[in-house]
Amino acid sequence: MLVLSREDILTVFSMRDAIEADKKAFTLHSQGKCRVPLRINLDAADHKGQYLFMPAYAGGIERAGIKIISVFPGNAAKGKPVVPATVILLDKETGEVAALIEGTTLTQMRTAAIAGVATELLARPDSSVGALFGTGGQASAQLEAILTVRGLKEVRIFDVAFDRVRAFIEANSAMAGRLGARLTAASCADEAVDGADVITAVTTSPRPVFDGNRVKAGAHVNGIGAYTPAMQELPPELLQRAGRVFVDNREAVLAEAGDLITPMKEGRFGEEIIAGELGQLLLGEIEGRRNDEEITVMKTVGFATLDVVTAYEILTRAEAAGVGRRISL
Ligand SMILES: NC(=O)c1ccc[n+]([C@@H]2O[C@H](COP(=O)([O-])OP(=O)(O)OC[C@H]3O[C@@H](n4cnc5c(N)ncnc54)[C@H](O)[C@@H]3O)[C@@H](O)[C@H]2O)c1
Repeated sequence: MLVLSREDILTVFSMRDAIEADKKAFTLHSQGKCRVPLRINLDAADHKGQYLFMPAYAGGIERAGIKIISVFPGNAAKGKPVVPATVILLDKETGEVAALIEGTTLTQMRTAAIAGVATELLARPDSSVGALFGTGGQASAQLEAILTVRGLKEVRIFDVAFDRVRAFIEANSAMAGRLGARLTAASCADEAVDGADVITAVTTSPRPVFDGNRVKAGAHVNGIGAYTPAMQELPPELLQRAGRVFVDNREAVLAEAGDLITPMKEGRFGEEIIAGELGQLLLGEIEGRRNDEEITVMKTVGFATLDVVTAYEILTRAEAAGVGRRISL
C-alpha cells in the first residue's frame, strides 16, 4: 500500500485537481452510482471524544474506502490535532488496502472544492469582491477554492474571534496575492457582506452569521458549516430571497442541515426550495443561475463519496509521480 502524507498530497494534487475530483464525485452520486451507508459514531467517553467511521463505494471508478475521524477535544492541550482524520482506499481487484492517506488535508481540499464547484457553476463571471466568514481549520482552503474559480480582487475576512482574523490574513496573504486578491479585515458581519459578490460561511456558529437582507442582488453564497439540525449559519431571509438552493446531497442536507430544517419547521418554505444537486447541475438536468440579479445559494454537509473519489485521484497522481512511501503489512 502507498502511504501519503500532507506533503505528498500537496506535491501531486492542486485545488484545481480537487475541484475536478469533486465534480466527478457529484456526477457519480447524482447518477445513482454510489453507495454511502450512514456514518457510524462510537463514543470515546473517557476522553469526551468520538470515533466516526465514514465508508462509501463509488461506482464508475469502482472504488470503496473509508474515512476515519476522531474528535478528541483534549488533544489541543497536548499540541495534537483535535480532529485527526485518515482515509483508507481499497484496491478494486483484490479488496486490499491500496492507500493510507492523511485525511485532514484531503478533507480541507475536498470540502473547499465543493464551494469551488458551486462558485464556478453559479457565481456571476464578473464577481470581484468576496467575503469569508470563519478563519478556522477549513478556511484557508476555502479561500483558495473561490480564488481558483473567480478573479476576485478583494476578500473581506470576518470571524467573531477577531484576533484570528489578523493571523489568518498574515498566513494567507501570499497565497491570495498569487491568485490576484487582497485580503482585508472586516470589523463586523455587515462590513463583510455589503456589496460582496461571493460569500462563503465556514463557521461552527449555531445561529445565522450575517443579515440576509444585506446580501447584494446577484451574489452567490456557499454554506459550509451547520452540519446538525440544531445549527444554523445561513440566514433564512437569504434563502427566501434566493428562492432556490443548490445542495451537494439532497438526502443528507434534509437530514442534517439546520440551515434548511429550521426554517422549514417554522413554515417559511418547504422542500421545493431545493433546486437540485450540484451533480444534476453538472449533468445539465437542472437550470443554474437564470439572470444577473438572482441570488444563488449552495448548502453542503459533505458525504464520504467525495473522500473516496478524491483519495482515488490523489493516489493515481502519486503513483504516476512516484510520490509516497510503499509499505506492506
Ligand atoms: N460541508 C462539509 O463537507 C464540511 C467538511 C468539514 C467541515 N465542515 C464544517 O465547517 C465548519 C468549520 O470547520 P473548521 O474546521 O474550520 O472549524 P473551526 O472550529 O476550526 O473554526 C470555526 C471558526 O468559525 C468562527 N465562528 C464561529 N461563529 C462565527 C460567526 N458567527 N461569525 C464568524 N465566525 C464565526 C470561530 O471563531 C472559528 O474561528 C464546521 O461546522 C465543520 O463541521 C463541513
